[in-house]
Amino acid sequence: MKKYIINGGKKLKGETGISGSKNVVLKAVIAACLTDEEVELSNIPKISDFYTLLDLVKRIGATVRLVDHRVAIKLSKIKENSIPIEAGAKIRTSSMLLSPLLLRAHSAVIPNPGGCRIGARPIDWHIKGLEKMGARIKYNSRDGYFYATVNGLVGTTFRFKKNTHTGTETLILAGVCAQGRTVLENAAQEPEIDDLIKLLNAMGARIRRENPRSIIIDGVRKLHGAHYRIMQDRNELVTFALASALTGGGIVIKNAGLTHVSSFLEKFKEVGGAWEEKDSTVRFYLKSRVFPTDIITSSYPGFMTDWQGPWAVLMTQADGTSTIHETIYENRFGYIEELNKMGAEMSLYNPKVEHPLSFYNFNYDHVNRRYKHAVKIFGKTPLHNAVLAMSDLRAGATLVLSALIAKGESIIFGIEHLDRGYENFDKRLKALGANIKVVEDTVGIT
Ligand code: EPU
Repeated sequence: MKKYIINGGKKLKGETGISGSKNVVLKAVIAACLTDEEVELSNIPKISDFYTLLDLVKRIGATVRLVDHRVAIKLSKIKENSIPIEAGAKIRTSSMLLSPLLLRAHSAVIPNPGGCRIGARPIDWHIKGLEKMGARIKYNSRDGYFYATVNGLVGTTFRFKKNTHTGTETLILAGVCAQGRTVLENAAQEPEIDDLIKLLNAMGARIRRENPRSIIIDGVRKLHGAHYRIMQDRNELVTFALASALTGGGIVIKNAGLTHVSSFLEKFKEVGGAWEEKDSTVRFYLKSRVFPTDIITSSYPGFMTDWQGPWAVLMTQADGTSTIHETIYENRFGYIEELNKMGAEMSLYNPKVEHPLSFYNFNYDHVNRRYKHAVKIFGKTPLHNAVLAMSDLRAGATLVLSALIAKGESIIFGIEHLDRGYENFDKRLKALGANIKVVEDTVGIT
């Protein structure tokens, strides 16, 4: 087990780039499984979720060539239609292999997916959509697998109950080679989905967004190979933007595209942040004091759920009380207790919501009602060192940002969560001047 040791309080300075998007590359690898020709992806982030998924596609028969930040995937023939439960527990996206397996092998055995533990995260809307396209899917609660078969997927009109990012992608992946037209209504709008659509269209698919929330897919007989460059990771961009603002405003981000982070920029400006764009670089900084603000997370184009943890660190430095109301996941405040250990003053609460069933994107049932869905952050509080543990990927980034501004030496456990989504996070922060060490924890190993 590895841990970070961070000596906080250093001003960070220098240049860094932003990796390719985690939440695109994983789906792009699955898209590559739709064709027997080679698909080459560039600008791939070297993160552990990506390697886990590569192992899975190799298991089902793909050959994979990986050179630096490029990967070539060729799945001539599907040799195996089942995904082991251990892999499913590690990586949520593994369930999306359902679509290529159903299209090419007409059957699939897929574990109920895992991934970051930030809520129950069922895939019932994905399953309903695939069933409407003709798949027969049974869930066996004794072994945790979905068993799916189909004679041939057929296009349909399917309306999503609420926003689902990967649900929309799963049905797009199924619709590309289904017979006839698939119309997805109330489809999600996240830009990562549009990047996947661009890749699929480059492979010969016929997909278009008719209006922001409806997607039309005309099934084609066969897809072909393509070369595609993965878009930038907007979660990583926001993480480094906040790292810069919190540590003196000296981080210059190279080739940063700001198009898809406008809801972040709006809020950042409101709290007294600013950014300077120069020769395709951008530097985020604070003008003077930080003002408190209220955030309600929402699906695109709103303020992303993935940003609320790192944002909370900035709000610990605001003069006054801020709030964050999480509406996408029922349990994404795994960092609060840890930040409170460092001297933050945060308390969870449930705001009054008139129509919770429609207001929250998660299922507002008797179980999820028990969680608290918002946090009050009382600023400004200086942070000090502590021994911390990450609960998930974005909570991990949150703790690292806190430790970077805290006085003293913090120890952070659970950094395998960070490796899932940030390439060389510690090395890049170190290159910017952070005092951060990765140490192999040998306690308990004899
Ligand atoms: N939901 C259901 N049933 C479904 C689908 C979703 O109840 O069939 C619920 C979920 O439980 C959740 C909400 O609807 O409460 C939103 O889920 P969605 O399907 O939109 O999210 P996701 O596909 O599980 C992706 C990203 C997340 C990101 C969200 C929001 C990937 C692999 N994951 O998750 O990324 O936070 O969309 O944009 O694309 C991360 O990168 O750390 C991460 C968690």
